[in-house]
Amino acid sequence: MNCIITGAASGLGEALTLHLTKLGHKICLVDHNDTALQRLRKKLGGEHLYVTADLTNPDAAKKTLSVTDAKWSTVDALVNCAGITGQTNRLTNEVESEDFEQVFRINVFAIFHMMKAVLPIMKKQQFGRILNVASIAGKDGNAGMLAYSASKAAVIGMTKAAGKEYAETGITINAVAPAVIRTPMVAALPKAQIKYMTDKIPMKRCGTLDEFVHLVTFALSPEASFTTGFTFDLSGGRAVY
Ligand SMILES: NC(=O)c1ccc[n+]([C@@H]2O[C@H](COP(=O)([O-])OP(=O)(O)OC[C@H]3O[C@@H](n4cnc5c(N)ncnc54)[C@H](O)[C@@H]3O)[C@@H](O)[C@H]2O)c1
Repeated sequence: MNCIITGAASGLGEALTLHLTKLGHKICLVDHNDTALQRLRKKLGGEHLYVTADLTNPDAAKKTLSVTDAKWSTVDALVNCAGITGQTNRLTNEVESEDFEQVFRINVFAIFHMMKAVLPIMKKQQFGRILNVASIAGKDGNAGMLAYSASKAAVIGMTKAAGKEYAETGITINAVAPAVIRTPMVAALPKAQIKYMTDKIPMKRCGTLDEFVHLVTFALSPEASFTTGFTFDLSGGRAVY
């Protein structure tokens, strides 16, 4: 499988990249953190593709596809992992509109641009797997995380709409909604915000990178062929819908 992963240089995207490369899949790693991408290039080698791009720029999707076009005959999967929380632990009236916009530029618009770029290719192939990383915050809303919660609800909405549109083409478009998994993003949050989120998990623990990669690997497999527009749960029992 040839798979584009955004946000591949850290956290969930990096863990998924390492897992899929071990299984023999070819990955196009996209991230704006060039230092981290180069570190991964040293580890994984030249058989994979590396694109340094700021995904808030709509041209980043075109740049990525020009790299994959030159090397790959197919793009079988796209995983949209890149994302930010923006400012947290603040009330709605304290949220700055610049921060709100920035969160939407990466969490929502970047996914829109990436899907728009790969869908014509996948449609020609009559096969594709798109997996958008949403969040429990998009289903339940996390107090103190207005922009993030709204952006992840938008990811779930885009996934539902696009999943239905392409349902007869061999392409599935799904999302995954994790609760809390220890990554650099979570480590950077205020302790009070992390406690608020983990206290709500019935299993009373964080999810693991392994739990994330195995669920996503299934969602990307050819066998996961009768599920589209769906948001897979990864919340230790917090969301049971
Ligand atoms: N970790 C969790 O508990 C958790 C829970 C729910 C959802 N998520 C979602 O999972 C995804 C990955 O999160 P993570 O925890 O691995 O975070 P992370 O910070 O470890 O990784 C995010 C990656 O995205 C990249 N990125 C950010 N902005 C970018 C931009 N403008 N252009 C290109 N790349 C950019 C970063 O450089 C980084 O490599 C995010 O969408 C996040 O919202 C995470």
